[in-house]
Amino acid sequence: METSALHAQPSASTIAIRAHHLNLWYGSFQALFDVNLEIKQGMITSMIGPSGCGKSTILRSVDRINERLGYVRIEGAIEVLGKNIYAQDVELAQLRKQVGMVFQRPNPLPISIFDNVIFGHRVHRNPGETFRKQDEANLVEAALRKVLLWDKVKDKLHSKATQGLSLEEQQKLCIARLLPVKPTVLLMDEPCSALDPKGTAAVEELIWELRGEYSILLVTHNMAQARRASEECIFLLMGRVVEHRETAQMFLSPACQETANYIEGRYG
Ligand SMILES: Nc1ncnc2c1ncn2[C@@H]1O[C@H](COP(=O)(O)OP(=O)(O)OP(=O)(O)O)[C@@H](O)[C@H]1O
Ligand SMILES: [Mg+2]
Repeated sequence: METSALHAQPSASTIAIRAHHLNLWYGSFQALFDVNLEIKQGMITSMIGPSGCGKSTILRSVDRINERLGYVRIEGAIEVLGKNIYAQDVELAQLRKQVGMVFQRPNPLPISIFDNVIFGHRVHRNPGETFRKQDEANLVEAALRKVLLWDKVKDKLHSKATQGLSLEEQQKLCIARLLPVKPTVLLMDEPCSALDPKGTAAVEELIWELRGEYSILLVTHNMAQARRASEECIFLLMGRVVEHRETAQMFLSPACQETANYIEGRYG
């Protein structure tokens, strides 16, 4: 039986996230202006733009982290799979199950690798549901294989995740721990910015692997990364969407002068 408000829409939408006339204020400061976006399902969409243009603010609005701040005000709507996530009947826990977030700095919990990967699943599991150790082990293995980390950690699953893993491995683990709860949307806020070039390449490869199965919105300051790792690209400037098109097209022949200036490195 499907009880989730977020699954309430009858037909499968090809749009994973839709922002509709989204305006957002931090106190009296307006950070987003009439943002309209359609992020396609199963695709990697990158979001680029100068520091302070509102990239993280958009991500934080999609999983409703912003509302922890009492002084944030939002107008307009954000839909995830056709359902307005700001509607009254949406439970935050349900939203967090559908939308996973990866941050700039990997932030594994100071518990074992195994427990990190299964943590979210344990939190979101139905209270009455019995789950055997072997079921958990299977989920953990599948998630770690998916992020290309299994061979590296299979012999130390019960070691602390905060010790003995490189930043790249920690970031892969932070992606792995989202997977057992089966999210549909992954939000990534500069997930490689703390990594060296080798780590960046490895995590990019992983993000590319997840294409098709997850709808990924990837914030990056790295133009090369946006080009390599995304199929569509959004350029933001001062809280407004300037341009949203196929990545190859945007980099080949941007429609707006501001986009051209930015991707050619003339500012930001
Ligand atoms: N918690 C907050 N309180 C007040 N203002 C904020 C808050 N978070 C962000 N802002 C402001 O909102 C605007 C957008 O910030 P945001 O963090 O979304 O930008 P960004 O594009 O992610 O920048 P960066 O590339 O530096 O991460 C900025 O002017 C920022 O100073
Ligand atoms: Mg940011």
